[in-house]
Amino acid sequence: MPVTLIVGAQWGDEGKGKIVDYLAGGDDVSAVVRAQGGSNAGHTVRNELGEFKLHVVPSGIFRADVDCVIGPGTVVDPDALLAELGELERRGVATARLWLADRAHLVMPWHRMIEELEEELLGDRRIGTTRRGIGPAYADKHARCGLRAGDLLEPAWLAERLELAARLKDPLLAAHGRPRIDQGEARARCEAWAAALRPKIRETTSLLADLLEAGEEVLVEGQLGMMRDVDHGIYPFVTSSAPCAAGLCQGAGVPPTSVARVIGVVKAYSTAVGEGPMVAELRDEVGQRLRDVGNEYGASTGRPRRCGWLDLVALRSSARLDGFTGLAVTRLDILDHFAELRLCTAYRDGGDGGSGGVKLLEAPATAVQERAAPVWETVAGWGRDTSGCRALADLPREARAYLDRIVETMGAPLLLVSVGPARDETIVVEC
Ligand code: GDP
Ligand code: IMO
Ligand code: MG
Repeated sequence: MPVTLIVGAQWGDEGKGKIVDYLAGGDDVSAVVRAQGGSNAGHTVRNELGEFKLHVVPSGIFRADVDCVIGPGTVVDPDALLAELGELERRGVATARLWLADRAHLVMPWHRMIEELEEELLGDRRIGTTRRGIGPAYADKHARCGLRAGDLLEPAWLAERLELAARLKDPLLAAHGRPRIDQGEARARCEAWAAALRPKIRETTSLLADLLEAGEEVLVEGQLGMMRDVDHGIYPFVTSSAPCAAGLCQGAGVPPTSVARVIGVVKAYSTAVGEGPMVAELRDEVGQRLRDVGNEYGASTGRPRRCGWLDLVALRSSARLDGFTGLAVTRLDILDHFAELRLCTAYRDGGDGGSGGVKLLEAPATAVQERAAPVWETVAGWGRDTSGCRALADLPREARAYLDRIVETMGAPLLLVSVGPARDETIVVEC
């Protein structure tokens, strides 16, 4: 069995954690890999041990026979990772098979400091980041002045890398009245991280290649979704990595030719945290109701999520970019509480609000999205509890019609429908 990519199709928080935890129970699955991002992620898993909010640890961690890999494309704050591992162990979850790629980059204290500074300087045009140091860590990676997890195990090399980082960062920090990098303090911090993480840091690309050669299945867990992709999303209101399918191969370190399945995770309505355009956003009492019924608050930062009806434009773009072979639709049960639903079937650029202008079926440039208006279609709700449904046939006719619209828009078959946060609150259509 080869690689399955699990990709967010919207703005993040689609329920990737739940779907990955579910799929990781498959007989042939041997590894789950996080490919990009870091502790900006908040992936929720609810199972027999309780509810967990994972940040950088892959959502396969609850499966004893699965290797969990924090891959080469990630950026990792070791303090955050150690805190997460400590919490998992405390709650009875074994972390012995968790590996940190030696090529993964480290989020250092100055990355958070620089992010705070940049957000402050941007003022009301800030990105609205999670302030986990993600952007500055990726900036240093691409500027070739980052530190990597494997460096922790090579003291002489590490000291040189720290000296060079300080040479490049200190002028910026000093110019803004921020403290310069204290290299002695940074070395001591790195020694403590090395002592704690030494057994976990390893080369991971060959580990995955060996598993694939042995015919095992590897799942790659995306962070965020297409609309926040650095290349394809609403730049600059994006993250600094590539949540799209192609980005996951690069970040995990698996050959694109090993990918057999690309599963798009689709939330049954829209949410986003952070700034930037969101054409289908509802800034009225219906949006507030979606937030209340869905308890839409960020898993990482606790910020209220912006809510709106399902955006078919975003889904169409995501499907064409990612080439989904199947779909997992989540949170269908939240829509049980609405008598009437709307779909954003297109964006309108220009015109008088009601008509005219240009109708767009795929996500345009950010500046166009900022001024575009949604084109709505009203569809019937079902007004009935779906959380107990375990087969498509159990769902109300209107709910099946709603799912059909998603399948039709995205051109990929439905594999799973999630009707609650728990593992078993899942309809398996085909898998
Ligand atoms: P992720 O970042 O994509 O993993 O998603 P989050 O964990 O940030 O947000 C998804 C939220 O929805 C979490 O609170 C999940 O426990 C919850 N969830 C996932 N699937 C379902 C579902 O089908 N129904 C309901 N009611 N909650 C769900
Ligand atoms: P998961 O994996 C939702 C958003 C931030 C901000 C933008 C850039 O749980 O879906 P960053 O800190 O990455 O530089 O912020 O991306 N963002 C998320 N939104 N879910 C997430 O992760 C997010 N990670 C980052 O709010 O708009
Ligand atoms: Mg999340």
